[in-house]
Amino acid sequence: MKVLSAVAWPYTNGPRHIGHVAGFGVPADVFSRYMRMAGHDVLMVSGTDEHGTPILVLADKEGLSVEEIVDKYNAVIAQDLTDLGLSYDLFTRTTTRNHYQVVQNLFTQIRANGYMIEQTTTTAISPSTGRTLPDRYLEGTCPICGFAEARGDQCDNCGNQLDPSDLINPRSKVNGEVPEFIETQHFFLDLPALADALQRWLDEVDTAGTWRPGVINFAKGLAKDMHPRAMTRDIDWGIPIPVDGWDTKRFYVWFDAVIGYLSAAIEWARRTGDPECWREWWNDPAAKSYYFQGKDNVTFHAQIWPAELLGYAGLGDKGGEPGEYGELNLPTEVVASGFLNIAGEQFSTSRGRVIYVQDMIARYGADALRYFICAAGPETQDSDFTWDEFATRNNNELVAGWGNLVNRTASMIAKNFGAIPQPGTLEPIDEELLAAVRGGFATVGGLLESQRQKAAIAEVMRLVRASNKYVTDTEPFRLKGDDQRERLATVLHTLAQAIADLNTMMAPFLPHSSNKVAETFGGTGEFMPMPRLEQVRDLDDDSRAYPVITGDYSGTPRWESTPVPVGALVAKPTPIFAKLDPIDPDDPFGRGAA
Ligand code: MF3
Ligand code: ZN
Repeated sequence: MKVLSAVAWPYTNGPRHIGHVAGFGVPADVFSRYMRMAGHDVLMVSGTDEHGTPILVLADKEGLSVEEIVDKYNAVIAQDLTDLGLSYDLFTRTTTRNHYQVVQNLFTQIRANGYMIEQTTTTAISPSTGRTLPDRYLEGTCPICGFAEARGDQCDNCGNQLDPSDLINPRSKVNGEVPEFIETQHFFLDLPALADALQRWLDEVDTAGTWRPGVINFAKGLAKDMHPRAMTRDIDWGIPIPVDGWDTKRFYVWFDAVIGYLSAAIEWARRTGDPECWREWWNDPAAKSYYFQGKDNVTFHAQIWPAELLGYAGLGDKGGEPGEYGELNLPTEVVASGFLNIAGEQFSTSRGRVIYVQDMIARYGADALRYFICAAGPETQDSDFTWDEFATRNNNELVAGWGNLVNRTASMIAKNFGAIPQPGTLEPIDEELLAAVRGGFATVGGLLESQRQKAAIAEVMRLVRASNKYVTDTEPFRLKGDDQRERLATVLHTLAQAIADLNTMMAPFLPHSSNKVAETFGGTGEFMPMPRLEQVRDLDDDSRAYPVITGDYSGTPRWESTPVPVGALVAKPTPIFAKLDPIDPDDPFGRGAA
């Protein structure tokens, strides 16, 4: 089966923090790695999302040109995600010529089919820069309650929804100046003309019952009240609109970003030398697609993107026909997670309440972070990161549970045999453990297929505890006499087999350490393939180069029990997971308190 793993595109607005990767990156990677192990053809794509006003504001703040800012953070983010082991087939960016062409092609066909309509609206602009000021960049006095710091879209004091032009004494949050309100022409996506088609799709999804309840209910709520939405902006940073007379405007960043899933698949295909092969993931109705993101992205993935796809295919009330890309698949599932908070509060880069992925990796290792996210992340509701829970879970679950099982088994094998021993006759207790662990492939696999990653890793950990209990029950460390040597061999062989199976099940969650475990038990080479960063040329503009994340994942192991090789050398192991001392929340990276 073809499986498109569509991962939310991070804005080039800074290094990634752990909240970002808990929402989209790690869950998408766990799923993609598992689906490859289960034998599917996974295409995992994403990139950096580089257009829009906030990027311009950031460039001004850092004193760089907008091109310099996006180059800078594209490189930083690509490094963050590679180091975390996210196995993208292609992680690209929205500033490639390929992406520009795909976006313009989609727009042109959606418009030809009648689903892009021109309307006049009022918009606030900054008189000094001429740029549009999005609602959230405006503040002023609330006309309803008199609160002095109401935002253009709503008043946080009385909770009323506002229109920016309602604000009394409006000013720009960027530089304090008084905005100018102008009448302007924009292209609007005609959502009302696509509403029936969207509703039919949502009904099907609802009947299938596979989406998380919070996500499908939110999507159904959106569908109840549909207005045309502006897909262009008065701005000079973005993708040009291929219509005469529109050269001072650009596409709205969200219009272009969601198209990245398609353009990245096309770029990937062009780079493999089989430029049409992306169609197997997009045109074949049997292919499946899963979209991973935080809950704040659901409007765009469960409404705007499907509407763009339906409009492109001509499947709304106005009819029409697909352009050169053909009829494109709608999302199989929008997999949205909650937010990861720090000690009860939201991450805030501006207030310095932030934990960067790169700091976590440098100090604690990628898999310690991945483990926390998988076991305690915001899968269906917001969850909390505390240093205390991070250290406790690491020490009690990873180190004392899985790490200890691996370590003591490898030590006993190294000391007594130096290699995985030939077992004697298995006793019922041995058979029982092996059967229980083998059963994990079905249960854990089923949970992963249905996006229940927390339950999945909890089940693997339950089997780890069962294996540790087997050590307590069989007491291999007491089997010392010559007459007990065969029993010792049987017990240690049984443990090596259980660990090999558990390591296969751990691999989607903890790919880095799965390689170390495999190596400890005599494996050579890479067990779970890793992504790599590569410098490439823009396919349509030789003067431009950029880093992409890609990889060869064809060596991915199968999701099944593989007999351990008797005779594989096992040396005295070095611990795979490190026990953490209590972490000082004021100085978690040991840099010395500021
Ligand atoms: N950049 C957006 C965010 O961080 C996510 C975009 S997902 C995309 O919220 F698919 F639209 F690109
Ligand atoms: Zn108010």
